[in-house]
Order: sequence, then structure tokens, then C-alpha cells
Amino acid sequence: MKTVRSDFEILKKTINNQPLTYLDTAATSQKPNQVLAAIQNYYLKDNANVHRGVYTLSEQATQAYEDARTKVGHFLNAPSARNIVFTRSTTESLNWLAQSFGPGQVEAGDEILLTYLEHHSNIVPWQVLAQKTGAKLKYVGLTEDGQVDLVDFADQLTTKTKIVSFAHVSNVLGTLAPVKKMVAMAHEVGARVIVDGAQAVAHLPVDVQDLDVDFYAFSGHKVYGPTGIGVLYGRTELLEAMEPAQYGGEMIEKVGLESSTFQPAPWKFEAGTPNIAGAIGLGAALDYMQELGLAQVSDYETDLMEETVTKLLAIPGLTLYGPQNGHDRYGVAAFNLAGVHPHDVATILDQEGVEVRAGHHCAQPLMAYLGLPATVRVSLGVYNNSADIDRLCAGLHQVREYFAND
Ligand SMILES: Cc1ncc(COP(=O)(O)O)c(C=O)c1O
Repeated sequence: MKTVRSDFEILKKTINNQPLTYLDTAATSQKPNQVLAAIQNYYLKDNANVHRGVYTLSEQATQAYEDARTKVGHFLNAPSARNIVFTRSTTESLNWLAQSFGPGQVEAGDEILLTYLEHHSNIVPWQVLAQKTGAKLKYVGLTEDGQVDLVDFADQLTTKTKIVSFAHVSNVLGTLAPVKKMVAMAHEVGARVIVDGAQAVAHLPVDVQDLDVDFYAFSGHKVYGPTGIGVLYGRTELLEAMEPAQYGGEMIEKVGLESSTFQPAPWKFEAGTPNIAGAIGLGAALDYMQELGLAQVSDYETDLMEETVTKLLAIPGLTLYGPQNGHDRYGVAAFNLAGVHPHDVATILDQEGVEVRAGHHCAQPLMAYLGLPATVRVSLGVYNNSADIDRLCAGLHQVREYFAND
């Protein structure tokens, strides 16, 4: 892990004449040279459209694109690459589920169960589905330290619950949902389970078969891959039964004047020219993660998170939200400094080259639940180290001094 930083060219950059200290990986990760090289190599050597030509270059591009699907399948331990649909992002994966899977799954009076931890992209699509179908949206509460409250979850699950959708890891509190337990409980009442893995895949190994989820979504750009490529994993029979969300070229089998037939899953979901370079870049990012070793990444980040939490809690006036220890958090720590607006904290840190997020983190219902208008959020990636955390804390001391003298 010590040599990882040299793979990320951008970390050599200075911001406001200070070394770049990037602590916003939860928003998007930086990209290693290996990913940039894979994308460049595709455009330099293999560029052609996929699934169309019978000529060699197109076959090579198709092979590279489908190899990327296989890599994603292995990464998630999916039964087959055919369980992997390429989308634009987690947001698109969840929207497609709400639009194409949802209507066949819920009707008036049925229930869709979310938790208070959700990102807007795992709330709004379900709100629209509920409004269109007359289904009811319900939210599971949290324990004191920001974990999904399993007692409340059990109480809220009924035979009317048809869809349960929740984040694997919270993008604000960094808490890990007990996915296996929740899936087993939801399946018991006949509900289908969708897991938003946007904040999980970069931090811990994910095995969709072991978790027994029905669908799993994530974004390439949060796992060291490029923007514009996302993943939707689905159980074979569910993907086969689900309608495409978009129609056009590539996804069809035969087109007549009045009607058409479609490719089998996953191709029936990928209308039009796909993000070929994005998929290849994502494949390279997953190779990169596998080379580092997911267990090593997870151990390294847990240690660094423990150090981060200890150092943050030593700062007077700092309130940390969620678990007060590092080992129950995955990649994320949200906090406030007494008497200072989070935007002011982030602006002053930026002067020191320390890049953190401030705001509601696309989780307004969670903020309301916690009674907070906003927080500062630091998030870790494989390239962060103790020096980054020391710069963060030195910056936070400066913020306190500045506001003490104000
Ligand atoms: C938990 C969670 N879900 C979904 C998303 C949406 O991801 P994207 O914007 O890549 O679609 C995010 C992004 O921050 C997230 O943290």
C-alpha cells in the first residue's frame, strides 16, 4: 500500500501552493495511471463500435468490452457475466429498477421500504414509483450510533413489503448495513432486495451470491474507474423478466414496422452505443483493486480510519456523527466544529490544500432525521495516509483559531 500514491499522478498537484490532500473519495475517487492507460490504449489501438462489425477491430473492441463485464462479474462473484448490466452510474441503475422492475412488483397499497440513511438517488426514484402506483414508502430508523435499527426493520417489514432498497455503506455516517440479515428477513416476507453499493465496493469485498441480494448497484467512478459507467447486478430470472428501460440499436434482435424483439439480458438493457471506454476503464480499475488485494485495502483503510477518528475526536468542539470508533466505519467520517458553518470549514481547509466535502451530501432526509443542516465530510481512499490526516487536523486547528479570533 506504501507505493500506491505513485500510481495517482494527480496527487503530485498543489492546491493554493500546498500539497493536494484529497479527502473526498466518497464523491469520486482519483484514477490510477493503470486506468488512464487502459482507456488510452483502447482509443489508440482497439477503437471501434461493439457488437456490430464482423471486422477484426470491432471484434477486438467487443472482446474488450465483454471482458470488462466478465471482470465485474468476478469482482462481485456473480454467477455469470450475464448478470452484469452496464449503466451510466448507481443513479441510473436505481432509476432503471424503479422504472422497469418496480411497476411489475408493486401496486396500490403495497410498501417500499428504505432506510433513513439513503442517498437521494435511492429515494427519489422510489418516491416517483410510489406516486405513480399508489404504493407506500416507509423508512427504517437508526440506532444511536447510526446503524440500521434491525428491530424497527423487523417491525416495518410486512407481507405488503414488495421492495426493500438500502445502502450497503452510508455515504454520511460510513456505517455498514447488515445486508445478509436484512436480505433474509426481507425474503421471508417475499420482498425483493436492492442494495446500493456506491460506497461499499471501494472499501470491502462484495459477494452478491453470499449476500443473496436480488439487485446490486454501483458506480465506476467511486472505485477508481472513470465517470459515466455504472453497474447493475441482477438475479438471472429477474433480469430476464424485467423490461428494458431504453430502446434502440444494439439491444434488439429483430425490428419490424410495428414491433420488435429484444436481445436476452444483459444486452437488452444496453440500448445504443455503450460507454465502451468507460467499461474498459472500470475493468482496469477492478484489476487494480484485485492486485492491491481487497482484504489488504480493507485492513489498511480500517487502520487509517481508526487513526482519523482518534485524531478528530481529540479536537476540542468537534462532534463526530455515527460510530465513535474507526472500525465500524467504511471510508467516511462526517462531523461539525462548534460555532463554525461546515462551508467555512471546507473553505479554510481548501486554503491549505485539504479538499473535503461540506453540505447535506445528497441525504437531506438523513440530515433532517439527525437534526443537522449540514456537516463536513472527509472520506478516504487507498492513496490516503497519516500525513493527510495530520494536514486535515492541522487545518481544523487553524479553523478553530480563526473563528476564536473572529
Ligand atoms: C450511497 C450512494 N448512493 C448513490 C450515489 C450516487 O452515485 P452516482 O452519482 O455515481 O450515481 C452516491 C454518490 O455519492 C452514494 O454515495
